[in-house]
Amino acid sequence: MKNLRLILLSVLGLSTIIIVCNGQEITNLVNLDHHCFRCLCHAATKCNLTIGCVAGYCGPFKISRVYWKDAGEVILPDDEKERAGAYEDCAISFVCAKRIVTNYFIKYGRDCNGDGVTNCHDYSMINFNGGYQCSPPLNRNEPGKAWLERYSACNPH
Ligand SMILES: *[C@@H]1O[C@H](CO)[C@@H](O)[C@H](O)[C@H]1NC(C)=O
Repeated sequence: MKNLRLILLSVLGLSTIIIVCNGQEITNLVNLDHHCFRCLCHAATKCNLTIGCVAGYCGPFKISRVYWKDAGEVILPDDEKERAGAYEDCAISFVCAKRIVTNYFIKYGRDCNGDGVTNCHDYSMINFNGGYQCSPPLNRNEPGKAWLERYSACNPH
């Protein structure tokens, strides 16, 4: 642990803790904990780990290729971004998909619902609405209502 450095950053109002340990980066966003990940995948697919790719969305978090690209093309260890299947194989792996989602929130995470904090409720809105325009309420259409219902059952407001 001789190369352990602790760097505190404030990016777009988000507190990010980056621990660099022997060249490996582990990034933790405040309020993006294990429970939040479970609720985000529950909202998307009821956390179905074997769902595969359906209609352009892959894995338990329903990650699209555009989302994956926006998140910096995270891949499985020793894979290559250019390889056909690199996106799909990462997105259908729970552990790899969590890295995609984390990167996406580092880029787009913000207080979508305007309640003064950036937390899992906002991350849920970002994953449904997309990072560019996360503010519209989820209950404005049927897929959004169903998403919110699953999310709220897992993480009540
Ligand atoms: C997960 O998705 C697969 C593929 O659609 C389906 O066959 C399976 O029944 C689902 N599992 C659960 C627990 O819903």
